[in-house]
Amino acid sequence: MIAAPITVEAVSFAYPDGTHALDRVDLAIEPGQRIAIVGQNGSGKSTLVRQLNGLLRPSTGRVLIGGEDIVARHVAQLARTVGLAFQNPDRQIFAGRVRGEVSFGPRNLGQRGMELERAVEGALVATGLEMDGDTNPYDLGYSRRKLLALASILAMGTPIVVLDEPTTGQDARGLERIRRIVADLSADGRTVIAVSHDMRFVAEAFERVVGMRDGRIVLDGTPADVFSENEWPTLASTFLEPPLPARIGARLGLGPTATDEALLAALSASD
Ligand SMILES: Nc1ncnc2c1ncn2[C@@H]1O[C@H](COP(=O)(O)OP(=O)(O)O)[C@@H](O)[C@H]1O
Ligand SMILES: [Mg+2]
Repeated sequence: MIAAPITVEAVSFAYPDGTHALDRVDLAIEPGQRIAIVGQNGSGKSTLVRQLNGLLRPSTGRVLIGGEDIVARHVAQLARTVGLAFQNPDRQIFAGRVRGEVSFGPRNLGQRGMELERAVEGALVATGLEMDGDTNPYDLGYSRRKLLALASILAMGTPIVVLDEPTTGQDARGLERIRRIVADLSADGRTVIAVSHDMRFVAEAFERVVGMRDGRIVLDGTPADVFSENEWPTLASTFLEPPLPARIGARLGLGPTATDEALLAALSASD
């Protein structure tokens, strides 16, 4: 699957109450890119990703997908192209059963029969919910409701997948599932855009990191660029800390993206 490029052009956005959440944001995302959006609470990350599927519309500026301004496309049309898993799963989940929740999206896109079965089963297996098809979503704990919100988006098979804070509340196993999902989507040629506070997840699973502050993009580069020592003051201004391995790597002269193995080898060599 080849995803379309996304271009955010000078997008500003104010909520109806007058809160200015985005200030002339420019962002070009290549098809198939894995891009993480970081920044403190309230910096505009969720507002930005909600512009990509038409849930919110720019006050000024425009969003293009595949070179086409999406202003004239309805949310229902955009749902074929862009899947967005909400930050708060409880604002997304509405069905009485896990399987019903996951099948709603692909069914709406016209899938039926075996094709629908496969899409739903694949999403349930990827998120570890395959035994919970008949469970009421509200009998799942928060971390599994997060995974359910993710499964519903995966089942739609969109070329662009947007995950708003997917790792919140996940233990090591949940985190590993999400890393696998991001890698598999990417291997399949899909664009993956994720908002995250987990700098280690960001450094390890994404090829590009965009940092936001006060509705603007203030950092943009590879994890090695963004977590390198000369960017630490900018990171700090967004109230973020580089991942611990980047800080240790800098101390040991191994650079910001040293692997755990390299860090451990350097430590044992200095024993
Ligand atoms: N529905 C809303 N109505 C009014 N202001 C909002 C709404 N949602 C978010 N905001 C405000 O917009 C700004 C950006 O919020 P948001 O995009 O949610 O940031 P982030 O996802 O980075 O935490 C914040 O000042 C936030 O309080
Ligand atoms: Mg948010």
